[in-house]
Order: sequence, then structure tokens, then C-alpha cells
Amino acid sequence: MTKRMWGGLFGQEPDAILEAINASIDFDRHLFAQDISGSKAHASMLAKQGIIAADDAKKIARGLDTILSEIKKGKFKFSSALEDIHTHVEARLRDLIGPAAGRLHTARSRNDQVATDLRLYVRDAIDRLDTDIAGLQHALAKKALKHAGVVMPGFTHLQPAQPVTFGHHLLAYVEMLARDRGRLADARKRMNESPLGAAALAGTSFKINRDMTAKTLGFDRPMANSLDAVSSRDFAIETLAAASIAATHLSRFAEEIVIWTSPSFGFVKLSDRFTTGSSIMPQKRNPDAAELVRGKAGRIIGSLVQLLVVLKGLPLAYAKDLQEDKESVFDALDTLSLVVNATAGMVKDLEPDAKRMKALASTGFSTATDLADWLVQRLKIPFREAHEITGKIVAKATKAGVELHEFPLADMQAVDKRINKDVFSVLSVESSVKSRTSFGGTSPVNVRSQAGKWLKKLKK
Ligand code: ARG
Repeated sequence: MTKRMWGGLFGQEPDAILEAINASIDFDRHLFAQDISGSKAHASMLAKQGIIAADDAKKIARGLDTILSEIKKGKFKFSSALEDIHTHVEARLRDLIGPAAGRLHTARSRNDQVATDLRLYVRDAIDRLDTDIAGLQHALAKKALKHAGVVMPGFTHLQPAQPVTFGHHLLAYVEMLARDRGRLADARKRMNESPLGAAALAGTSFKINRDMTAKTLGFDRPMANSLDAVSSRDFAIETLAAASIAATHLSRFAEEIVIWTSPSFGFVKLSDRFTTGSSIMPQKRNPDAAELVRGKAGRIIGSLVQLLVVLKGLPLAYAKDLQEDKESVFDALDTLSLVVNATAGMVKDLEPDAKRMKALASTGFSTATDLADWLVQRLKIPFREAHEITGKIVAKATKAGVELHEFPLADMQAVDKRINKDVFSVLSVESSVKSRTSFGGTSPVNVRSQAGKWLKKLKK
């Protein structure tokens, strides 16, 4: 008997180029563990339902265990003549247990098989990613707590806006990452239905028990429509969308690390462990890891787009285009794990230069809003008027070449005589951040309480 699954009809061997375009074993071998779990669940269900003999099911299960350990030990022989992981496992099973192997594919198709395998794979990957991202959140919250009171320039338009605390800035990413984990968890919940038993596309006449296989594989229930079960990949698209958003968050942070470590900014330092040198310029210290976190976001987003494009023109149900659903999913999820862990490494490594950040935070009239707020709160001046007065003072201070806290009271009074010396109490960057105690604001008190809350939550 030929090892091809459709040997009965075909007299000729396939062309080499067909074999080359058709084979997926080079990448779908990553599904071996899921494929074997799916097959074991299917075989034991077939036996329970009396569709195959219990003895055959036992042989099948034992054979599958052997194959699992052969693959894990690197002792398994892969060949592109055998197309994909499903064919490989079945062919090896036949070598190991003989004709009983031929009963495994009863009431099943590779279409529901591969859909099941990929769901299991993505589900496992989401679980690992959740742990990775929680680890990064923990590193960020720990740094935030340590540097809750460190003042840095806060930007809008990358122009100095108002002073903020370094801890507050880091906690912004903890919040984003929490939503990223939430999106992955949502995707996991929705994908956790079993396609197994949908067979090729229409279901089967065998009296299978889909609830049983669903339960064995940890799915919440079987998918309700066999056409949907074999042809939908929105579970992978949704996961890649969540992965792309997470990668985008990390890319923004990476961009900040690139900016912050540039000597022109000099906000933070990375050690030798997270920087590289130049082969020609001896003075250089490059933030390669951050640049690659930023760069790899493109790769993850590309995977999302690739899968959307594969799906967009496909009629129901299965078409071989769907084989193109795997490489980008594997690559994107592995890449996300890598960039999450690289970012966690940088977070643990980086040290802020508090002196430098404070000095820069004190430039660019960053407490101008504090002055305007003081005019409103102390002198009961309407905010619009206060804004105008402050603008005039900033213009004069700019001309004089001094910052607001250095600008003489008399010169302020020349703009508005109601101003008194109390104003200086709000013009330092420390007083500015300390005053921002509104919920979600940047004050060190807030940062300490938020970081503490996160650290407690992440310990669980
Ligand atoms: N290697 C295939 C894939 O990944 C398995 C399903 C093949 N099904 C088929 N009808 N040819 O999609």
C-alpha cells in the first residue's frame, strides 16, 4: 500500500513541484503534541462509542505515545513526501501497530483535525504569553515603586509639557499590558470550542460523541456548525490582533527607551548586558534590544495582515489556502514572547538618571500650568484669563532667559499686580508632581499606591 492517503485513486506519483508547494511538514511539525492529543482523544471516543474495537484503540494510544516520545527525542524521521504532520503520525503509527492504525481516521478528516490542532496550539501559546506579560508587568511595577518620586519631563507632541514621575510613566505600560492580557484571555475564551468531529465539512454518519472529545481536550463544548468548524480561523486572527496591539505597545515603549538612552536625552542607562557596541565607533553604546522590539512589531502586525488576506476571499468550507494559516501564527506568537521577555530584561536593567531628568523637567516652562492653576485657585481668576496672564509671563521669562521659578516677583507683578510671593510654592517640578493627586494623576503618593496594588495582584 502506498503511504499517500489517497493511494486508491491515483496511479502516478505527484510531480516534485507539487510536492514542494503542497508540503507543510517543515512548519506544521510544531503541531505534533496537539495532533497526538487530538488523535488520542478521538480514538478513545471511537472505542467508547463502539465504532472501533477497544483493543485497537489501546494499540493506537500506545503507538501514539511512542511517536510522541520519538519526536520529542528527535528520533522521528520527517520527509516532505509525507506532506504534513497528520500524515506523518498516521504513517508511523502503521509502522508501529500495523493495520489497526487505519482505523484511527474513522469519522474524521484532516480538516477538522488540523483546525483542532491549531486551536490547541494557539490556546497553549496564549497561556504562556499570559505568564510572560505578567512577568513584564511585575518588572515595570517594581521599577515604578522604586522610582515613584523621580521627576521627569512629561511630553505632549514630544515637547516639554508638565513634569511627571518616572514611576507613573512606567505604570502607564502596566495598564496597557493588562488590557493586552485581557484581549488574549477574551480570544482564548471564544476559541475554546472543539472542531473535532466536524469531519471533512458536513459531519459524519458515525455515532460519534463530540462532547466527549471536546471535554478530553479541555474545550468548553463542540463547535455547533461543521462548516464553520473546519473553515474558520478567526480565533487565530483575533489572537494575532491582540498580539499586534501588545507588540505595538511594546514598540512604543522600545521607542522611548531608544530616545531616553540617546545621550542627547540621557534619561536612563542600560548596562552592558542590554546594549551593544559598534565595530567602528569605539564610543558607541547601542540599544539594539529596544530597536528590535520596535522592529519586530512590524513582523507581528504583518502576520495578522497575512492571515486576514488568506481568509478574505475563501468560500466555505476548507481550501488548501488554509494551510497558510500556520507559519505566521507560530512566528508571531514566538516573536511576541521574545519581545515581551526582552522588554522585561531591559526594564530590570535600566537605571534612570534622576538628576538629569529633573534638570530637564525644570526647563521649557513645564510648571506654567501650575502657575495658571495657582492664579485660579488662590486669586479666583477665571482659567482663561489665568492662561493669558501666564502666557505673558512665559513670554517675558523667555526674553529674560530664565525659567519660571527664577523669574523675579516684581516682573510677574508687572504683568498682574495681584500675584504675590506664595506663587513660588507651585513653580518647582517637585511641588508640581506632588500636587497631581487626582485619581490617576502622577503624584508620588498615587504611584506608590498603584504600584503596590499591582505588585500584590501580580503575585497571585
Ligand atoms: N496540511 C493541511 C493544512 O494544514 C491539513 C489539511 C489537509 N486537508 C485537505 N483537505 N487536503 O491545512
